[in-house]
Amino acid sequence: MQTKNINTLEKYSGTILIPVFETHSKSLVPIEFHGVSVVSKVFYGKKDTHYLVEKYDCTHVFIGLGKEIDYKSLKTIFRRIASKHKDVFGKEVVLVLPEQFDKDKVEASISGLMLGTYNFGHFKKSDKHPFLLEGFELNLFSKTDFIETAARAVKIAKAQLETYNLVDLPPNVVTPKYLAEWATENGKQFGFKVEILGAEACKEKGLEAFLSVGKGSDKEPQFVIMEYVPEKTDAKTKHVGLVGKGITFDTGGLNIKTAGMVHMKCDMAGGGAVFGAMRLIADLKLPVKVTAIVPCCENSVDSKAFLPSDVIGSYSGHSIEIIDTDAEGRLILADGLSYLIKNYKPEIIVDIATLTGSSVATLGFECGALFTNNNEISQKLQRSGDAVGERLWQLPLWDSYKSDIESDIADVKNYSGKPVAGAISAAKFLEYFTDEHKAWAHLDVAGVAFGDDEFAKSKHATAFGVHLLTKFIENL
Ligand code: BES
Ligand code: ZN
Ligand code: ZN
Repeated sequence: MQTKNINTLEKYSGTILIPVFETHSKSLVPIEFHGVSVVSKVFYGKKDTHYLVEKYDCTHVFIGLGKEIDYKSLKTIFRRIASKHKDVFGKEVVLVLPEQFDKDKVEASISGLMLGTYNFGHFKKSDKHPFLLEGFELNLFSKTDFIETAARAVKIAKAQLETYNLVDLPPNVVTPKYLAEWATENGKQFGFKVEILGAEACKEKGLEAFLSVGKGSDKEPQFVIMEYVPEKTDAKTKHVGLVGKGITFDTGGLNIKTAGMVHMKCDMAGGGAVFGAMRLIADLKLPVKVTAIVPCCENSVDSKAFLPSDVIGSYSGHSIEIIDTDAEGRLILADGLSYLIKNYKPEIIVDIATLTGSSVATLGFECGALFTNNNEISQKLQRSGDAVGERLWQLPLWDSYKSDIESDIADVKNYSGKPVAGAISAAKFLEYFTDEHKAWAHLDVAGVAFGDDEFAKSKHATAFGVHLLTKFIENL
């Protein structure tokens, strides 16, 4: 989707999107735009309402924003207009940008419109959304030039749409190989280096914890490493490391998920967020060096699968007692984190994963769980999330929880065996593999990466993390 500025609506025919801040239900002054007058009885800008008027060969869509509106709500409103009123859009669409709109509001609106093009029916025949047709241009009617912001908004949404695809496509399509190929292609297109370690290479490197998880599947594990280096670097250029959980399907392994596993294609959503963020960081040409790792494999069941009570090795050299094969995410992240730290030494590290049901039980679907011992990073991550409607809430990482992962037979165990504080002990397990890194944060996004909303009948990807991680890196 391209955008251009226009400064008159004369001779224009097409659809006009008119965001309106709330006036009053009993206001005597009608809302006026382009010769169309709307009385408050039918529409006064109440949030989540809209009103359509056909006049002068134009479809006027008045869009209620309420008295004030946050980034996420604004984005959702525009996504709704684009996805549910596809039929009102022809080749010509104008978006009116009210004077009260700053860059963030413009960005949220245009990103929202673009996200509204997402089609859940990946395997159904359907027409392309009008915004995706060749030559489509969104006309911006505004006193200020927002072209750069608009281009940025489109880039953000495109990266999020990619993550939607990766997470929503089924696990027989999105295999570890598929993710590796996605990374390779996007690396070429957007300018970041990609290295893929297949099973043989992982064995040589000693990525034993990662390989143990993939043993029960005939889909070859792929350890994906991506490196983005900005055009200009100097001694002050920051270096961020990202790690994402890339379990393309989590059956639980031999500790099979008996309470239902139908949504477990979402278990690569942390990896999906890292993939989307890498693409966006490179697309926006951010002046920060970023190295990202997504260990990709399937946690499945057969005679070769790893067993509860196995003791396995890891890239770090530490031994791990397997209490539960369903606590697999922390095993692949452990190797991802150690490999990143040993070979790339980033100053700041963030990992993101659909790691525990416990984080969902604690925080529900409102925010991700944040774990870190670094206050500055904690604040920066939370602020970045607040700004884009991807909120985080910090939980403790105190050493008093360390006993949960102490094993009799090995250096650590992968599960406490107790039905309490599961998200925290998982975070403590990861911490063990960070080599006491001073600026590491862990995001458990099991409750927010895949969810229900008005856009589809069943749970689907939210792309949580794509914008948050990018914004965090941008604000460093
Ligand atoms: N992939 C799951 C966590 C999850 C739960 C993701 C809900 C998305 C939605 C993870 O691998 C898992 O199975 N965790 C177990 C760990 C337990 C066995 C220690 C859990 O949280 O129940
Ligand atoms: Zn699991
Ligand atoms: Zn999992």
